[in-house]
Amino acid sequence: MIKYASFCLLVCIAITACKNAATTGSSNAATKDTTIVKDVHTQSNADSVIMKHLDLDIKVNFETKQIAGVANWSIENKDKVTELKLDTYDMSIDSVFADGKLVKFILDSPVKYLGSALHIPISANTGSIAIHYKTGKDAIALQWLGPQQTHDKKHPFLYTQSESIYARSWIPCADGPGIRYTYNARVEVPKGLMALMSAHNPQQINDSGIYYFDMEIPVPAYLMALAVGDISFKSIDEHTGVYAEPGMIDKARYEFEDVGKMVGAAEKLYGPYRWGRYDVLVLPPGFPIGGMENPRLTFCTPTVIAGDRSLVNLITHELAHSWSGNLVTNATWNDFWLNEGFTDYFEHRISEAMYGKSFADMIWELGYQDFVAAVNDLGKDSKDTWLKLDLKGRDPDDGLTDIAYEKGAHFLKLIENTVGREKFDAFLKKYFDEHAFKTIYTEQFLVYLNDNLLKGDTALINKININAWVYGPGIPANCPRDYPERFKAVDTTRTEFLTGKPISKSITATWTTNEWLHFLRNMPAKLSLAQMKFLDESYHFTKTGNSEIADVWFVMSLSADYKPAYPAMEQFLSSVGRRKFLEPLYTEMMKTPAGKEMAKSLYAKYKMNYHPLAQVSLEKIVK
Ligand code: BES
Ligand code: ZN
Repeated sequence: MIKYASFCLLVCIAITACKNAATTGSSNAATKDTTIVKDVHTQSNADSVIMKHLDLDIKVNFETKQIAGVANWSIENKDKVTELKLDTYDMSIDSVFADGKLVKFILDSPVKYLGSALHIPISANTGSIAIHYKTGKDAIALQWLGPQQTHDKKHPFLYTQSESIYARSWIPCADGPGIRYTYNARVEVPKGLMALMSAHNPQQINDSGIYYFDMEIPVPAYLMALAVGDISFKSIDEHTGVYAEPGMIDKARYEFEDVGKMVGAAEKLYGPYRWGRYDVLVLPPGFPIGGMENPRLTFCTPTVIAGDRSLVNLITHELAHSWSGNLVTNATWNDFWLNEGFTDYFEHRISEAMYGKSFADMIWELGYQDFVAAVNDLGKDSKDTWLKLDLKGRDPDDGLTDIAYEKGAHFLKLIENTVGREKFDAFLKKYFDEHAFKTIYTEQFLVYLNDNLLKGDTALINKININAWVYGPGIPANCPRDYPERFKAVDTTRTEFLTGKPISKSITATWTTNEWLHFLRNMPAKLSLAQMKFLDESYHFTKTGNSEIADVWFVMSLSADYKPAYPAMEQFLSSVGRRKFLEPLYTEMMKTPAGKEMAKSLYAKYKMNYHPLAQVSLEKIVK
């Protein structure tokens, strides 16, 4: 946690240095305000009261779909304030004790997106606050699955998704990425099930249904995680392993063979992995996102299990967060690119080290295409295309676009290209070392970048043009792009197909997922039914087991109204809850009157299989 005095100092330094950077850089960006804005997505007063440790004691009840128990916070009332303010969301608070004495609390009415602030009276010396609570039916972090919604269809399952501001719906807490604390937990679950957290984890189901957890490294609330279900474990090597439902565990183990080596490759680049074990938990298909970097235990979608290890870069990404994000954390959601842009860059570097440059070049290019699509989608002048976001009064998930990921990663690639890889890697290693277990604002990063790498070198600064990237819209003119050789052949093949020439099987035989994605994504918006049929008969896209390819293919099928793909698409929509896949499909359906009807009926039918967070996103589309 940033101490207030040093925080003020940093703010001043940051403002001054950014002003300097602005005068030395060739700025063509819109006017920027480099004043550090505190986290606008927490109502807590954790800048005055230090949240030191959480002792959580909860029971998971599948019948009532509730988590109930006690959150016992160790605090230090640094500024001698008279109340502690915490974040909650749709939660009932039964009672609150300060140093063991019952106190009168106030629970505000909910503020849009932020939930209800909980006010607890404290004195200068209050050391502990115990909150007895129950989660509500709209606890947005939680998805309660019946047996039918799991892979094995035998037992219920529960999992959380706390990023960005949803931890407050299952734990009363100071829910900002800039607020870190250690935790331990006692979690009681139905006998026969296993509980896992972002902590030291069990590897076997026990008889009591009671599990104890310990996370001695301070983490922010968005990295709090819990999963409960019939889960088994298989190790990859001494420090890495996989958890999944028993019927999925062997496939998962096969898919993630490289994960142990990946940790080594990452450490070689930016220093030691500091979290002890690195395990991956494969969740049931309703998981709303691809992967979540919960410390020590990445949560991931089963849609990465393609059977041929071709989508494992999702795990590379979540592993990379063990440095960018979990070790050095964005101070607010306005600085989200510091988490995701760095991680995207780092993911590509790990992939390059593991699978070679020609592989990495392809994922860079696919990322560039995502960047272009995000700018087109948001509008090239939109402030939402700046790296530094302004999410005040808004849903922090509005910032969850490819700008943070791809504009962020390309900005770092540009710096790498400009100063040279060796210097940039040394800089990043030092950055991770010096900011380990700390949080950072964009403005502070820019100061650090100047002090430790650019060092006022006007030629370098002008070449990079930081302002155009961080405080300017769209795709800056100096955005790096190296078009991969392997995609040139794909482009030729696509053109041949579109001009009616036969495609030789020997050309496509060597293609990996990346080439296929590039091939399909860059087709004209609408193919003819004959073209769709030809592609499907040649390459069996409708039946593909690769979720990334299936998703693009189903979108194309909708736009061409290629009905033979619809049963498989419905099957996909019925179980997969990953927002990234669902959103483009429902968006495409909504483009025609008949599609609209289809979207409404499919959504009504399968809504229950989607996580509350996915439902929120989809209800903005299907209406
Ligand atoms: N931390 C994100 C997921 C996230 C971000 C959830 C913001 C909620 C709010 C995670 O690391 C991520 O980026 N996942 C991607 C994986 C991909 C980029 C390889 C996903 O889920 O698609
Ligand atoms: Zn990420």
